[in-house]
Amino acid sequence: MQLARRMQALAPGIFTAMTKAKTEVEAKGVRVINLGIGSPDLPPAPHIIEALRQGVENPRNYTYPIGGNLKLHQALANWYKERFNVILDPQTEIITLMGSQDGLAHIAWAYINPGDIALVPDPGYPIYSASILLAEGELYPMPLLASNKFLPDLKAIPRDVAKKAKLMTINYPNNPVAASANPDFFKEVVEFARNYDIIVCHDVAYAELAYDGFKPMSFLEVPGAKEVGIEFYSLSKTYNMAGCRIGFAVGNAEVLQALDTIKSNIDYGVFAAVQEAGIAALTGDQACVRQTAAIYQRRRDILVDGLGSLGWHMPKPQASMFVWAPLPNGYTSSMEFSIELLNKAGVLVIPGIAFGSQGEGYVRIGLVQPAEELQEVIQRIGSCFNFN
Ligand SMILES: Cc1ncc(COP(=O)(O)O)c(C=O)c1O
Repeated sequence: MQLARRMQALAPGIFTAMTKAKTEVEAKGVRVINLGIGSPDLPPAPHIIEALRQGVENPRNYTYPIGGNLKLHQALANWYKERFNVILDPQTEIITLMGSQDGLAHIAWAYINPGDIALVPDPGYPIYSASILLAEGELYPMPLLASNKFLPDLKAIPRDVAKKAKLMTINYPNNPVAASANPDFFKEVVEFARNYDIIVCHDVAYAELAYDGFKPMSFLEVPGAKEVGIEFYSLSKTYNMAGCRIGFAVGNAEVLQALDTIKSNIDYGVFAAVQEAGIAALTGDQACVRQTAAIYQRRRDILVDGLGSLGWHMPKPQASMFVWAPLPNGYTSSMEFSIELLNKAGVLVIPGIAFGSQGEGYVRIGLVQPAEELQEVIQRIGSCFNFN
């Protein structure tokens, strides 16, 4: 049974290797502390679960949810206005997705012909590249380097590549590098996209996991952004609804129409009860969002300060649920270090190389365990490693 060539795009080599290594360590009786996953460990607020419960109990919610729920679009439009001062037309400038992953995976089908170029971040969240490869497009990786504050250097993209590029994906606050963007960068992106006729896809999944009073911005806040692109927003991290599978694409109506056409051919929408839970989340008390961010901020401080006291230093991110940690002194391979950390301390992190070649030299540490577990992580690493 000969697999199609495009299946090679889906070979998750490093993630599989890490899962295998974890199973082997666990077989020796070690309790592995998993800081590798990118899924929130916290529950949604009670009013969101209650809305979901009521939605599940409503027999009318079991038809195909074709066409979505205008009240949900209106709720998101109000939320965007309140949070970002961005005006969205609920009818034409918002579509509901089965998580933002759904849109990130399918947008390439609407715009990429075999051989077309897409500009993607390196390192980057894997679906950005996989979606292009599934559509048989070509990747042009934009390096995210510490020396450029982990922002792509648009001036370094050759003119002929920019001219051929059809899509560009950016993501701030970023997974995996945990960096944030500034308005000047987004303005530069809009100008670049205009000059070269490129559709921008901005992924803003981590907008609300921000610390020390920092407020990440929407790409659509920048004048002209709506003319060149769309933004993917997710309820997964903001409201701890990752398993509920609900997210949105917002912005340019023409691009959204194309994405909607693809989706209308392959699915019938998000379960109505989940959409009702989404309305409750977006219109309800937002204290839960602040509480979630405060929990992650405390975890960040415990982890970064604790590892720093052991001689392993890394910057404190302003946002996202990850720490992007340069390898400690003496290590050069992120894979080798991650395996050593797993074998010696029973702590699982993701080697930076899993996210692209420019991720080498780093590991991604997820703030996805309670404070006590992170204290245990520090204690375990301190007893097995000497970084000084
Ligand atoms: C950067 C980024 N974008 C999108 C997603 C997918 O989110 P959703 O649950 O909305 O599909 C994730 C999930 O971890 C992510 O890290």
